Amino acid sequence: MLLVKDMKDLAGKRVIVRVDFNVPQKGGVISDDNRIVAALPTIKELLAKKARVILMSHLGKVKHKEAPEVVEEQKKKNNMAPVAVRLGELLGIDVKFCPATRGDELKNAVASLKDGEVLLMQNTRYEKGEEKNDPELSKEWASLGDAFVMDAFGSAHRAHASTYGIPEILKAEGKQDAIGYLVEKEVVSLEKVVNVPADRHPYIAILGGFKVSDKIKVIDSLLKKCDKVIIGGAMAYTFLVALGRKVGNSPFEADQLDYAKRMYDTGKILLPVDSVVAQDFENPKNIHVVEGDIPEGFEGMDIGPKTREIYVKEIAKAKTVFWNGPMGVFEKDEFTAGTIAVCKACADLKDAFTVIGGGDSASAAKKLGFKEKFSHVSTGGGASLEMIENDGHLPGIDVIK
Ligand code: 3PG
Repeated sequence: MLLVKDMKDLAGKRVIVRVDFNVPQKGGVISDDNRIVAALPTIKELLAKKARVILMSHLGKVKHKEAPEVVEEQKKKNNMAPVAVRLGELLGIDVKFCPATRGDELKNAVASLKDGEVLLMQNTRYEKGEEKNDPELSKEWASLGDAFVMDAFGSAHRAHASTYGIPEILKAEGKQDAIGYLVEKEVVSLEKVVNVPADRHPYIAILGGFKVSDKIKVIDSLLKKCDKVIIGGAMAYTFLVALGRKVGNSPFEADQLDYAKRMYDTGKILLPVDSVVAQDFENPKNIHVVEGDIPEGFEGMDIGPKTREIYVKEIAKAKTVFWNGPMGVFEKDEFTAGTIAVCKACADLKDAFTVIGGGDSASAAKKLGFKEKFSHVSTGGGASLEMIENDGHLPGIDVIK
C-alpha cells in the first residue's frame, strides 16, 4: 500500500484527499476540532511536495429521501464552510472553500488552484449519489484529481463515492492512490487489537453505550478474540433481562434477548452486579445504588460501586484492551463514576496496549485528562468497530491496497 510520504512527483499535481471532517458543530461553532488536527500531517506533507490539495469530506447526515425543505434544512445545518476557516487557522494559510459539489463552479475552483494551495469542497453528502457510490458522481469527482489520498479513517467503513468510487477509478487509470498519516497510524494500532498474539493476552474488551443491536457483530468477533468482554451502559440491561433479571424502567431490546443469552453462555461476558439508579432521566431524583433487580419506576444510570471494583480488578490483569462506549450516562455528573473507574483502570496499566475505539469513550478520556495515557485513541467509532468485525478489512482502505 502506497503511503503519502512515498508519493512522488506531486509538484503541480491535483491531489484529492478524502478527510473526515465530520466534527461536532452547532451554528458554525466547532466544539471539537480533533479530526481536523489529526489530518494536518498529511495535508502538510502534500503542501511540502507542492501539490494542489483538494479536500473532500462529509459532515453530518443529509437524508435525500426527505421532503426538499427538510433536505435544505439538513444541508444548512451541515455546511462545511466553518471547517475551512478552522483549517486555515490551524495551517496558518488561506484555505479556499468551494460551495459547489459538482459542475463548472467546482471545476473552475480546482483549475484556479496553485501549487501548494488548499481547497475544501462543500459537504460530499450534499450529493445524493455520494452514499450510493454513484458511478457518474465518482467519475466527475475523480476527473478533478491526478492522485488520491485516503486519510478519512472515520469514514473508511463506508463504500461511498468519495471513499471508494474515486480511488477505484484513479487506480484503474494508473494514478497514485495512497493512504495518509492518520490512516496509517490507525491501521498499525488497530491491527494490534484485531490480531492479538498469545503473549499479549489477557485481552479484555470493554463495551458500553446504548444498543446491543448496534454492536452485535463486534460482540461476536470480540468473544472469539478476547478473554473477557466487560459490558456496561444501557446495553447491559438487555443482557440482564435475557438472564431473567428485572431492570425497572431501564431501556432494553426485546428482540435481542436470545442473542444476548447465547453470547452470555460463552462464559466470557461480565455484567453489572449493581447499578446506580434514578427516577426521571431528564431531571434525575432519588438517586441510589441497588444490587440485583432494579425496582419499577427506576432506571439504571451507571454501574454501581461493586461492579466498578470487579471491572477494575479484571482490567488490571489485561495486556491488551479495547474500549468502546461509556459505562453510564456520562453527560450527567452524577453518573460518571463507572466510566471514570474504567478509564482510570486502563490508564493505570503499565505493560498493556490500550485502545479507545472513538466516539463517546474518546470524549470521556479527553474530558477526564486520561487521553494521553492510552496507547491509541481512534478517530473512528464505527470504523474501528467494523475493522475488528471484519478482521482488519475496511472498504475505503482495501480499495487502496
Ligand atoms: C463518524 O463520525 O463515525 C464518521 O464520520 C462516519 O460518519 P457516518 O456514520 O455518518 O457515516
